[in-house]
Amino acid sequence: MQASTNKSALLMNTVPHNQVMDAYRSLKLKIRLSRQEEPIRSVLITSSVRGEGKTTTAMNIAVAFARESQNVLLIDSDLQRPVLHNLFGRSNHIGLANLLVGEVEWSEALQETSFDKLTLLSAGNVSGSAIDYGTLQVKSIVERAKQLFDIVIIDSPAVLESVDTQLFAAECDGAIFVIRCNQTKQSKAKEAVEVLQRINASVLGVVMNDAKIKKVTRK
Ligand SMILES: Nc1ncnc2c1ncn2[C@@H]1O[C@H](COP(=O)(O)OP(=O)(O)O)[C@@H](O)[C@H]1O
Ligand SMILES: [Mg+2]
Repeated sequence: MQASTNKSALLMNTVPHNQVMDAYRSLKLKIRLSRQEEPIRSVLITSSVRGEGKTTTAMNIAVAFARESQNVLLIDSDLQRPVLHNLFGRSNHIGLANLLVGEVEWSEALQETSFDKLTLLSAGNVSGSAIDYGTLQVKSIVERAKQLFDIVIIDSPAVLESVDTQLFAAECDGAIFVIRCNQTKQSKAKEAVEVLQRINASVLGVVMNDAKIKKVTRK
């Protein structure tokens, strides 16, 4: 049986469909073109605090890559508040945390989704933070994920709320920083970007989430 996907979280399925699809397609293109020498293969999606649209952005960008026939792995690295498994109607029994502990094989942890070419690594059911398992473990997980998939999208906790985000940001080829229009505080965004810069994360761009789209009327 195919699991169903939470349709409202998948903004591509909302109206106005075309504008949203175009926005994620152009973000996907931006990621692809942002490094000339070697293509970007692992991208962290993050923001300053919770509720700004990291998970929504990660899910939609992963679907955009999968629709272009790339083999995509979407990882839920928010070990304290995992939600991706729910959004895809999947289980969180085995996932990233279990791989970090080293108690399962990759084949046991990966889950198919209702989208062709889109695989999910849910957060997993082991308590604790990624930092408890060490930077080397995080590094080897990101490296292995890149060997197995064309592109790896990592949904993360907020930079100012979990040190885990820094661990993953340091190992990814690039990071996308999400700002929620009319909600994100400028001071918090600045503070979070500075944290990312301190660890030499490569911030590829900023997503202005939930921007009001003006209707263009023809005269
Ligand atoms: N552009 C958007 N339009 C409508 N709802 C959105 C949008 N972005 C996020 N949301 C909603 O806001 C809430 C928080 O978004 P989420 O992606 O979970 O944030 P985060 O992962 O940063 O905590 C969710 O209920 C999500 O569906
Ligand atoms: Mg989230």
